[in-house]
Amino acid sequence: MEPIRTAVVTVSDRVWQGQYADRSGPRIRELLDARYVVVAAEVVPDERDRIEATLRRLSDELAVELILTTGGTGPALRDVTPEATLRVCDRLLPGVAEWMRAESLRYTRLAVFSRAVAGIRNRTVIVNLPGNPKAISELLPGLRELLPHAVGLLRGGKHEL
Ligand code: MTE
Repeated sequence: MEPIRTAVVTVSDRVWQGQYADRSGPRIRELLDARYVVVAAEVVPDERDRIEATLRRLSDELAVELILTTGGTGPALRDVTPEATLRVCDRLLPGVAEWMRAESLRYTRLAVFSRAVAGIRNRTVIVNLPGNPKAISELLPGLRELLPHAVGLLRGGKHEL
């Protein structure tokens, strides 16, 4: 299988303002293996319109097959990544978000507060991850095994499982 054209989007006011370094985006990149090629890595503030525009551009202009967002999924007033994601997706992948929450509950009960969603825009799979680098380390190893299946189906070929 050709490597999956992937974009990583860090959603954080504080990273965007330079108050601290992005640790989540780089952690995602570290944990992706040779089945993935990261073609874009961006930082956006917690603004719904900005997040939405970024997701649309990555999907429509860069034709990425996978967008992994990190951050902005919690209950805080500024957390709007799921809302932006829902607005750009044509179809949802509720099972992916259900799996992430189930998996996360093995580590912390606070996982119930992630409002993360996953879905599909045209041929692009979009998955929200929590912002904590620890959460990324807990979720990415499992997620990276699951995602090639969905991308393969969107490519239109036969899947490999
Ligand atoms: N999932 C995992 N695997 N590990 C974690 O530490 N933290 C939770 C949850 N999901 C966590 C997790 C917490 S405390 C919150 S508030 C939500 O993710 C949302 O985080 P976010 O706003 O940074 O996206």
